Amino acid sequence: MKNRFFVTKSIPKLMEETADDGHGLKRSLTAMSLITLGIGAIIGAGLFVRTAAAAANNAGPSVTIGFIVAGIGCALAGLCYAEFASMIPVAGSAYTYSYATMGELVAWIIGWDLVLEYALGAATVSIAWSEYLNKLLGYFDANIPYQWCHSPFESSTAGTHGIMNIPALFIIFLLSLLLIRGARESALVNSIIVITKVSIVILFIAFGWSFINPVNHTPFIPEATIFVDAQGVSHHFGGILGILGAAGVVFFAFIGFDAVSTAAQETKNPKKALPIGILGSLAICTILYILFSYVLTGVATLNDFRTAGKEASVTFAIQTYMTGFGWLAKLVTVAILAGFSSVILVMLYGQSRVFYSMSRDGLVPRIFSDLHSKFRTPYKSNLLFFVFVGLFASFVPQDIVGDMTSIGTLFAFMLVSAGVWIMRVKNPELKRGFKTPLVPLVPILAIVVCGAMIFGLGWANWTRLFIWMAIGFVIYFSYSRFHSKIDETR
Ligand code: ALA
Repeated sequence: MKNRFFVTKSIPKLMEETADDGHGLKRSLTAMSLITLGIGAIIGAGLFVRTAAAAANNAGPSVTIGFIVAGIGCALAGLCYAEFASMIPVAGSAYTYSYATMGELVAWIIGWDLVLEYALGAATVSIAWSEYLNKLLGYFDANIPYQWCHSPFESSTAGTHGIMNIPALFIIFLLSLLLIRGARESALVNSIIVITKVSIVILFIAFGWSFINPVNHTPFIPEATIFVDAQGVSHHFGGILGILGAAGVVFFAFIGFDAVSTAAQETKNPKKALPIGILGSLAICTILYILFSYVLTGVATLNDFRTAGKEASVTFAIQTYMTGFGWLAKLVTVAILAGFSSVILVMLYGQSRVFYSMSRDGLVPRIFSDLHSKFRTPYKSNLLFFVFVGLFASFVPQDIVGDMTSIGTLFAFMLVSAGVWIMRVKNPELKRGFKTPLVPLVPILAIVVCGAMIFGLGWANWTRLFIWMAIGFVIYFSYSRFHSKIDETR
């Protein structure tokens, strides 16, 4: 029994299983649609909300350096992802790659871990969506009462306690329904949103540049100390540890380029299109992020990010400091709402596709791979994840789900990077559409940089990751290993 944990799925068999026979998922996406899918997933709450949180709690203006560290980690891991994706172009992302390389147990660990990335990622962005919705309502002199747009673990400066985040739940519901209608329609809506999203990032950088107050950038790297936030949680602030912590927090902003690989099974010519989609979307976003965070931390003060500008920070910064740009604040608010929706969509999509693969392998129940007779989407899975994600969106604070998403994804990236290296040693003969350069150096560096960010996220997040993985082990050893179809699919 012991050895079966390390039994791998054969790659030719994997490809055979997923050939387009007219009954599985539709193949309709191209390289360009993958880049838009990627950017759709990438630019979102990480940039427009988590940047301010990282500046406030961890690094001040040196959050910009945090973006560089996170970008480097992602580029390294992205190179590994791209090799895997071009070699094993089937649905399921890191989960499937590890099943083919490191065996069922590691595959399970990654698949389970990816729930943190996709499902909790969607929850995080939906909470951010709720913040900007309130800004939008503010333009019409309306607002949602504090208690109905915050979790029970948060309270306002005036002492009002949150009860439930209804707007966050609402947007998850709406997008789950859209996903059930099918990937092609979703990708089209996504493309329109991506153009808007990239435009507002560029506009903010261009117009905000002249409003940078050098005082806000001094000192650029604050002295190392401990900062205790409004919830009583302490963070390493300033210095190297502050930058690493900030990198871990804003790493969230990069999550999603790997979601491109989960669409492999619905992609035409995946060997070529996948690496282009992954690396292309990553490169564009990294440049934008560095500039954007530099401008944001230059326009508003550190104290703003800890108080009034904590929520919907970008709109706050424009309204407060960029005189004459009221129109930009409005445009940004609307575009961000649309942009966040596209991120949530891709996250929910990625989640359902990972569980689709896991379900076909027997590791999770069949209900997750039942396809709708007309739309050919895993609609039951979409509905179940609506409930799961909705609970987190409604009742857990954004800082917690956001950092859990980061740590879970970083962990998956480390395993994927190790996988590329293992695969080169074990199966050097396999054809790879794209080859990671300088193996094993690149995978090793990816593991080190992602590991450093995990370190920066601190013990509370390590504990949460540990508990989540422990739950996963219980499920694996009590259900999955008895239902696994590995013997049939080898
Ligand atoms: N990268 C995505 C975001 O920042 C998850 O919202």
